[in-house]
Amino acid sequence: MPRGVFITLEGLDGAGKTTQIKRLAAWLRRRGHEPVVLRQPGGTATGDRIREILLHSGSKGVAAMTEMALMFADRAQAIAEVIRPALEAGRIVVCDRFTDSTEAYQGGGRALGSQLVLELHRLVCDGLQPDLTLLLLPGFEASLARARRRNDRVEAETGSSEGRFEAEQDGFFRRVWEKYREIAARETERVVLIEGDLSIDEVHEQIAEAVAERLMLAGKTD
Ligand code: TYD
Repeated sequence: MPRGVFITLEGLDGAGKTTQIKRLAAWLRRRGHEPVVLRQPGGTATGDRIREILLHSGSKGVAAMTEMALMFADRAQAIAEVIRPALEAGRIVVCDRFTDSTEAYQGGGRALGSQLVLELHRLVCDGLQPDLTLLLLPGFEASLARARRRNDRVEAETGSSEGRFEAEQDGFFRRVWEKYREIAARETERVVLIEGDLSIDEVHEQIAEAVAERLMLAGKTD
């Protein structure tokens, strides 16, 4: 069956994924590919409703297990409705966050552990793995500063209180960051780690290089 290419972007809040995804999509279009772009949680009508529960600061008392189950409910819907059909049609899918986020945030941040997340991934997502994961992960202090800066900016712009994840303590983000490092060390074939305090252009160049290589492997370039 012809299969497309599945690319995910990962990193802490404020890592610049949104900017990089726009740049990557434009880069792909210039090469004749029209990528399917989506984010998690969200990306489908059902997923957007789940996202509302998950990210809203008003959702108090959501248990860690509930949070994880909702992340997978969202993902199952996105796979069924968007990701799998697109891949089967030979498209390039670019997804802002995927199961690595659940492993880092719920497995690491919420301390549920990797095993549970990976087992659920196998059962709920039929083990669907990205062909390439771009992990934007500067050092912990820089990552944390970016996450806090972004939150200040969002608050200033919208005047609204913090979302559920932005309100977390430094220790939470430290566990997320460490779990991401662990994933990168374990999944060396799939995950390209982009570290250091790099400019937007420098990060884009590294992403473009990694994607070009992967497209070549998939026979999607001439
Ligand atoms: P979002 O505003 O989309 O943040 P970002 O632009 O940084 O991706 O919010 C997504 C939040 O949800 C983010 O804080 C990470 C969190 N999250 C999880 O905790 N587990 C998951 O499985 C996913 C996909 C996201």
